[in-house]
Amino acid sequence: MAQDLTILGLESSCDDTAAAVLRGRAILSNVVLRQDDLHAQFGGVVPEIAARAHAEKIDLAVERALAEAGIALRDCDAIAVTAGPGLIGGVLAAVMCAKGLSAATGLPLIGVNHLAGHALTPRLTDGVAYPYLMLLVSGGHCQFLRVDGPDAFARLGGTIDDAPGEAFDKVARLLGLPQPGGPSVEAEAASATGTIRLPRPLLDRPGCDLSFSGLKTAVLRARDMAVAEHGGLPRAIRADICHGFQQAVRDVLAEKSRRAIAACDGLTAFAVAGGVAANTPLRAALRQVADDAGLPFLAPPLALCTDNAAMIAWAGAELHAAGHRDDLTLAARPRWPLDSTAAPMLGSGKRGAKA
Ligand code: KG4
Ligand code: ZN
Repeated sequence: MAQDLTILGLESSCDDTAAAVLRGRAILSNVVLRQDDLHAQFGGVVPEIAARAHAEKIDLAVERALAEAGIALRDCDAIAVTAGPGLIGGVLAAVMCAKGLSAATGLPLIGVNHLAGHALTPRLTDGVAYPYLMLLVSGGHCQFLRVDGPDAFARLGGTIDDAPGEAFDKVARLLGLPQPGGPSVEAEAASATGTIRLPRPLLDRPGCDLSFSGLKTAVLRARDMAVAEHGGLPRAIRADICHGFQQAVRDVLAEKSRRAIAACDGLTAFAVAGGVAANTPLRAALRQVADDAGLPFLAPPLALCTDNAAMIAWAGAELHAAGHRDDLTLAARPRWPLDSTAAPMLGSGKRGAKA
């Protein structure tokens, strides 16, 4: 049973080098070594720098995770590792490390889809039953998934261009606000006295797909108009633009969530994950959508919503319980759609192709 296993999880698909130990649903350790300072001057994640840092730090992360958990590697029942999708040089770092550990100890190796890690987190935190609806909203992901099992996902829609966190970050850059953009745009919007109405992309089209790049262009236009009129960007207008942008993101995500829920039968809950789910007005709107549909609203704590290895260990435990095993031929995959029957996603996201 997933409940009884002790699993070591490894994650290096993006810009966090992470390792964690889980025993059942208890998180014995959850180590995340961030790389923000390495990429800050470039305004985005540089794949080569990320890969090198992962290769340097992954064994350190594992050592720390085992030490914090107070166990030895031989006390684990299996090793779970993100095998994709993500920046391939980074993914390889944890996959190679996990293979080495597995070869040395004979422990079973389980390759995990990074998106499945996010999508299964509400089972770790809340023990929710299948099927539930998951909205992933982060700097690199944006999709609706009906989660039917540890290896059974139906993608109902997603972004066709930018991920929402990416849009928040670009809008912050356009308006001269600090990175990461989400929290600074949210703070600026909170001081708005008015709002600037911006478009709600794809709301007029059926289905659950989303688009955020046009919204970013609308912000650029609003900024340039204000600058042309005032000879600079007045603080009050900047706040109104942030408010208008945040409202537009909130409205499209809420409406598309309503549609995704309506498209599914027998859901047990509506769950969100990803850094953007930290946005207070957005979270309130999504909670309302769940309430209106009579569903529990689940938003795991932020440390488990953003990239981490506890979610990979948990997904590994679920896959292990379902009989999945990999061996030393496990491949690192830059692309790995969770739902192979859904049309391919057109967009990528700032962190590289995600599905
Ligand atoms: O899940 P995450 O930590 O990393 C990945 O993208 O994998 O998400 C980070 C994204 C960033 O783009 C950040 O601007 C956004 O989440 N974010 C927010 C907020 N806090 C973080 N977006 C909107 N409102 C927030 N309060
Ligand atoms: Zn992620």
